[in-house]
Amino acid sequence: MIDFDPTWALTKAGNAHSTVADAYGELSWPSHDNLPTPAAGQPYGRVLLLECQPAQLPAAELVLIRWRPGQRCAIHDHGGGHGFVYVLQGEVHNEAWPDSESLTSGVPGQKTSWSAGSSIPIGSQCVHSMMARADGPTISLHLYIGASTAMTIYDPESMRRFLVSNNHGAWLPDDSEILEELSWTKK
Ligand SMILES: [Fe+2]
Repeated sequence: MIDFDPTWALTKAGNAHSTVADAYGELSWPSHDNLPTPAAGQPYGRVLLLECQPAQLPAAELVLIRWRPGQRCAIHDHGGGHGFVYVLQGEVHNEAWPDSESLTSGVPGQKTSWSAGSSIPIGSQCVHSMMARADGPTISLHLYIGASTAMTIYDPESMRRFLVSNNHGAWLPDDSEILEELSWTKK
């Protein structure tokens, strides 16, 4: 049983960005039985609740995520978008990767933990990775404003980074999902 109130969660999201809140009347919130389930090998399942195109509103998307306990997502950016992650249930550990030096060294700049009821600000230059706590379910709501149609996924182990569609989750893509492989060299 998921013990959060969708209306309350969306009000929180609306408070963070009133323009997006104007569109909430068209939102279709999944029932508890239809929350996204992580596919095999993926750190979370995601469902797109709202997507606003620039002709209507500032480009925005609202995504609900159900985490696989204890699973870390890939390091990624948000295509220049900004917003927040709102933890609805459970706990999320966040690692910030502030520059290319931290990425190549494998040492994050800042580690923080966020419990249910917390908002994690996402800046337009944010590069991060997140992990749900290992015990119990974690559900989070993600709002991104002004993102381009593509995002970057980083793989420090192979020193490769990939441009993928914003509809892709934060995990390493299959070859068919890669829009472009970007150069990445140690500085
Ligand atoms: Fe993210």
